Amino acid sequence: MITAYSGAELPQGDSPELVLAQATPKERTESIKLNSTEWKGPLDVDSYLAREDTLLQQRLTKKGLTCWILVDRREPEDARTIFSSCETYKKTAIVACGGKVEDASAHGVGSVYCRPEFRGKGYAKRMLQELSKKVDAWLAESDRRERPLFSILFSDIGKRFYAQFGWIPYSSSHFALPSISKEEYSSQVTMVTLPEVRELCAEDVQRCICSTDVVRKERELLRVASMHSPGSKVAITPDFNHFLWHWAREEFYSHKLYPDKDTPILKGAGNDDAKVYCAWNRNFGATPEENTLYILRWVYNEPTSPEETETTVKAMAAILRRAQLEAHEWNMANVEFWNPTSLLERAVALLDPSAEIVHREKSSIASLRWSGNPEENVEWLCNEKYAWC
Ligand SMILES: CC(C)(COP(=O)(O)OP(=O)(O)OC[C@H]1O[C@@H](n2cnc3c(N)ncnc32)[C@H](O)[C@@H]1OP(=O)(O)O)[C@@H](O)C(=O)NCCC(=O)NCCS
Repeated sequence: MITAYSGAELPQGDSPELVLAQATPKERTESIKLNSTEWKGPLDVDSYLAREDTLLQQRLTKKGLTCWILVDRREPEDARTIFSSCETYKKTAIVACGGKVEDASAHGVGSVYCRPEFRGKGYAKRMLQELSKKVDAWLAESDRRERPLFSILFSDIGKRFYAQFGWIPYSSSHFALPSISKEEYSSQVTMVTLPEVRELCAEDVQRCICSTDVVRKERELLRVASMHSPGSKVAITPDFNHFLWHWAREEFYSHKLYPDKDTPILKGAGNDDAKVYCAWNRNFGATPEENTLYILRWVYNEPTSPEETETTVKAMAAILRRAQLEAHEWNMANVEFWNPTSLLERAVALLDPSAEIVHREKSSIASLRWSGNPEENVEWLCNEKYAWC
């Protein structure tokens, strides 16, 4: 462990000697070891390091992940004291304004961390101030198609901390439905008969959720929205690499925690008649109560008649029930999905009229920092779990 500084000599958070630097591979390992106490969950430290290395090899992150550390610029590389750390992930995005749609890039920020003995001294604040400057500079330096117009993060420490640096909280709600056993799944729960669902493997998800047709519809959604109100409309492109990244994570855990079980190959469910599909991943927490099957992304066509609405809602309800069963098979307490639309609210009401939407105040607060005009009112569409990092 790097221990150049002892407690008495620690610099002030606003010291001119502190700089934000890219971690060397050795320093990245060091920062992962430091934050393991917070995020390793059921893994031991070595497995947690192996998880991070596995994730780094994914297409989403291989070229686009940077580990940042706040250090004293006078210390030599590989021997620098890490005052605070975080990661940025490069993502592709769609941005529409005034009826014009363009491809852009964006950054995700994650793993913001300061070791317990250094906390409360302003290091994380300083790191985020420096990071904001970098993110804005990337916008100025990039060519048009590559412009990182915004960055996102998911705060686990409420809505205030990141807002002071420009990461403004956006809609952060969800439904959580309990897992159900095979017996419960086979029994009739609703007054209406629900349709059959099709189980989706990774290739199906690629076809049904990440196709060029889906992306085209999403661009159109943003374009139309941008004609009806001022300000940019943005979304993280639902490219397949996001899903592969989430699944690499779940597969790493499932191999470690359930070595006798087969790799989880079911990655979602759908209904072809209604053309409703979802992709999911299994999230293994520190305790079984924290195990959650997250619906990463829903895809469906906006219905144009009452009949179509009913068909869509019933398909959603059937898919949700299949997700509840899948959660049970993997010892997950709940199925969760973010920022439900009114159609999904109706689907949940079909399954459980007493289920209530949760508006999160503390954890996974979807936050967005716009690097363009600070006065602009930016709307984040398709704000679902797939974009989480
Ligand atoms: C959050 C964290 C990075 C802050 O690091 P730090 O260097 O102590 O932060 P700073 O000294 O720059 O700023 C302290 C501020 O952090 C905020 N903060 C820290 N922990 C918080 C928490 N659990 N809930 C809400 N705010 C919190 C407070 O707003 C505090 O402000 P105050 O000084 O006005 O009370 C650090 O506590 C940490 O690593 N926690 C564990 C990992 C974590 O939760 N990371 C955030 C993931 S989104």
